[in-house]
Amino acid sequence: MAQIELKAITKAFGETEVLKGVDLSISEGEFVTLVGPSGCGKSTLLRILAGLEAASSGQVVIGGADMTHIRPADRNLAMVFQSYALYPHLTVAENMMTPLKMRDLSRGQRLPIIGPMMARARYRELMNSVREAAETLKIEPLLGRKPGQLSGGQRQRAALGRALVRNPVAFLMDEPLSNLDAALRVHMRTELAELHRRLGTTFVYVTHDQAEALTMSDRMAVMREGRILQVGPPEEIYNDPQSVEVAEFVGSPPINLLPGEVNSSGQVTLLDEVLGQVERRHAGPVLIGMRPETLVLAPRGLEAQVKHRENLGSDIFLHLKTTSIERRMLVRVSPGTPAQIGDRVHLAIDFEKVMVFGQTGDRLPFAARVLEKIA
Ligand SMILES: Nc1ncnc2c1ncn2[C@@H]1O[C@H](COP(=O)(O)OP(=O)(O)O)[C@@H](O)[C@H]1O
Ligand SMILES: [Mg+2]
Repeated sequence: MAQIELKAITKAFGETEVLKGVDLSISEGEFVTLVGPSGCGKSTLLRILAGLEAASSGQVVIGGADMTHIRPADRNLAMVFQSYALYPHLTVAENMMTPLKMRDLSRGQRLPIIGPMMARARYRELMNSVREAAETLKIEPLLGRKPGQLSGGQRQRAALGRALVRNPVAFLMDEPLSNLDAALRVHMRTELAELHRRLGTTFVYVTHDQAEALTMSDRMAVMREGRILQVGPPEEIYNDPQSVEVAEFVGSPPINLLPGEVNSSGQVTLLDEVLGQVERRHAGPVLIGMRPETLVLAPRGLEAQVKHRENLGSDIFLHLKTTSIERRMLVRVSPGTPAQIGDRVHLAIDFEKVMVFGQTGDRLPFAARVLEKIA
């Protein structure tokens, strides 16, 4: 059974519909990413799950119970914000203890006032929870420091620690890495993924960065204009996108999209080369999608000229212009490649990896051409 279920969620701010019917089921312990361009409704969806925003219609189910109208504090979800929101005058330990104290306070309204002895015992209990969380996050040495004495990454971990002590059903994170510099952001991806494995708690993670989604999640939900376009494991989203929007959104450098043609017998051609077959009813113009690794330099094949050579150390991206009809494309090659700017090269296409998109942007079922044996 799904632990978290978002059912037919819609949200309008005045006249503007920002969520247009979102369904998503999340299993216990899953790391699910909501990813999409800025303004597509990711934060709104997360806030609806957290209870910080009310949906216009639809249902939020957590652990089998309808939580749609339950206040945030009673959903036992931990929200980690981008801005960390740590109290500057409190130490990391005190910051981490705050949610537990707040919980005590709200329960205290229904309990008799506790005496100083009890308070000390309770403090030790809270401190134990804090130490345990600090150990998990490897921030014990920071417990006595104030936020001003921490680096960006350490502040990030302190904020996570504060969420962790509450032992929540799930962690909800909204672009938690966007304030960090590039190197730290990449490092924190690994840390968060490891933390998730250690904790085994559900993570719902919002980002506009497809690389974060690809590297960390068990499943990613690609959003656009208030809808989820496709949900699946990163490999599936990358290798098997169901629409041109999803294909374009994931992958860096982006997928090559070139105008192709389907003839009346369903044959797919690109620059006069036959790539394979789709159903005949799709005859007409199509878009041919090829990831930068779908094209390889070969002794013969499509002819192109090297326009730019982008050296990334481990890989080189060649920016090419085909010679017959001018089309720009980008291929990934190994660092040893002799191809230099201005050179003419030939490209072989890995037909099995070609994607064909129809006029509405939907992916068309495609049977790749079987290569004749080269004698
Ligand atoms: N409180 C609000 N009032 C009016 N419009 C809002 C409000 N919050 C968000 N929006 C609009 O809803 C859309 C989705 O916003 P948001 O969920 O923050 O997107 P994302 O997190 O994907 O960038 C945006 O167009 C935004 O301007
Ligand atoms: Mg947002």
